[in-house]
Amino acid sequence: MIDLQKFKNRQTIRELFNAIADRYDFINTVLSFGRDKAWRRSLLRYLPKRRGLKVVDLATGTGEQIRALKKDGRIENMIGIDISEKMLELARKKLQHSMPPVHLLLGNALRIPLEDASCDVVTMTFGLRNTSDAAKCLSEMRRILKPGGVSLIVEFSLPAQWLRPFHLFYLRHALPQVGAFLSKNREAYRYLNLSIEEFFQPRELSDLLMKAGFKEVRLHSKTGGIVTVYEAMT
Ligand SMILES: C[S@@+](CC[C@H](N)C(=O)[O-])C[C@H]1O[C@@H](n2cnc3c(N)ncnc32)[C@H](O)[C@@H]1O
Repeated sequence: MIDLQKFKNRQTIRELFNAIADRYDFINTVLSFGRDKAWRRSLLRYLPKRRGLKVVDLATGTGEQIRALKKDGRIENMIGIDISEKMLELARKKLQHSMPPVHLLLGNALRIPLEDASCDVVTMTFGLRNTSDAAKCLSEMRRILKPGGVSLIVEFSLPAQWLRPFHLFYLRHALPQVGAFLSKNREAYRYLNLSIEEFFQPRELSDLLMKAGFKEVRLHSKTGGIVTVYEAMT
């Protein structure tokens, strides 16, 4: 049994993602049966309608969320932030000739290196669960958003009752085995399953967003509730 507490440490998380970076995209696609791309693309429909958007993607990893959004004509520029050098290195390769321009920064989502009210949209996909302090991260998101801005968070959640036993079986038994086999890192995919089960469920996370100062939160359930998109307005 692994100790989830150990992963509340930023250095441990950084090392974990540095270790699996090379295979991260491929394993994601296998474990999600290819749904991960659609979950990221779904954020397009929640972007504000105006043009000239400045977008910040927290825990950007290998840049897949940026890649899913960047062609949208409303976006003027994008910044991706992550603590893992190896994940960012892969993002850099993918996004080097990007239009609109993408800036990638090594940095912490709990202390975002950007000014107050400096962007229109903050996205965070499968990242919040991996930070050591979700409430602090949400208040940082709120701080960097302009009035009229929106935060779009994608996180795993536990699905509706009828689907839950099957999903839990998959999470507890199949996912750690397949993840360990493909990544050669048993701990990383055991951590994935435990972190999903332990993390805030949609109502709780929605309350945390309101406490962080967002005025309204809309929940969008994807794939039977396996994933939830949180649309939080300033
Ligand atoms: C599961 S990956 C998600 C990557 C990407 N957003 C995606 O959609 O595939 C989680 C990422 O969160 C990053 N991360 C974890 N804690 C962080 C923190 N405090 N600040 C910035 N990035 C963090 C990790 O380095 C990793 O790249």
